[in-house]
Amino acid sequence: MGGRDATMVLLDENGIRCDGRKIDEPRRIMIKAGGLKNADGSAYIEFGNNKILVGVFGPRDVHPKHMSNTDTGILRVRYHMEPFSVDERKRPAPSRREIEISKVIKEALEPAVMLEKFPRTAVDVFIEVLQADGGTRCAALTAASVALADAGIPMRDMVAAIAAGKVADTIILDVNNEEDQAGQADMPVGYMPSLEKITLLQLDGVLTPEEYKKCVDVGVQGCKVVYELQKKALTDKYFGKGGD
Ligand code: CDP
Repeated sequence: MGGRDATMVLLDENGIRCDGRKIDEPRRIMIKAGGLKNADGSAYIEFGNNKILVGVFGPRDVHPKHMSNTDTGILRVRYHMEPFSVDERKRPAPSRREIEISKVIKEALEPAVMLEKFPRTAVDVFIEVLQADGGTRCAALTAASVALADAGIPMRDMVAAIAAGKVADTIILDVNNEEDQAGQADMPVGYMPSLEKITLLQLDGVLTPEEYKKCVDVGVQGCKVVYELQKKALTDKYFGKGGD
């Protein structure tokens, strides 16, 4: 953020971005529901060069017991980056960043999951980032929603996520790693399209009020595209090609 690499051309004179995309074009997104035999539900996502696997376990007993809630179930989320997932080896110990992302993904998923149906239990979501290239929290949140649905956890809606942002004074959809590092703003958006509710909204960078509104709008529209791919991943597994 903040123009660390001032020499990089993030948007050329034809409005084409550093990876060849148009300003409103998401990266290639591939979502697969299922795949992990020992999980209750799972999903794998490729979001551009991001590669992320999610396993869901539960609803199951909570240990230690005092962490359980007699009125409702609880959601626990662990976002973990493999040391080899980034160019400069990440130390294996949980970083502040991983703890923060685990928290925001948990809070973004909670409005979608009907935890009140499972008092005293926990639903655990394990996120393994195998390869990272900017936007892992959005890709992980997207895959986690599919994995929860795959586990048969009752949900109000799925959360779809994608980041909007700003490079070269232009609002763009789906911020990649270079754009995140050298661009002007990065706004991850998580959205439940059927309920029309935003459950994740963060902003790194500076936007005018007009740009802020445009970013939210571009992000929400992008989430609707992601949502269709989430639904397709589930229908492919349960009603068509590509079962476990
Ligand atoms: O991944 P996301 O954009 O949600 O989170 P971020 O904190 O804005 O990180 C942006 C990107 O920086 C990640 O997707 C990785 O590609 C990269 N990164 C890295 O190279 N080394 C780290 N230890 C952490 C992140």
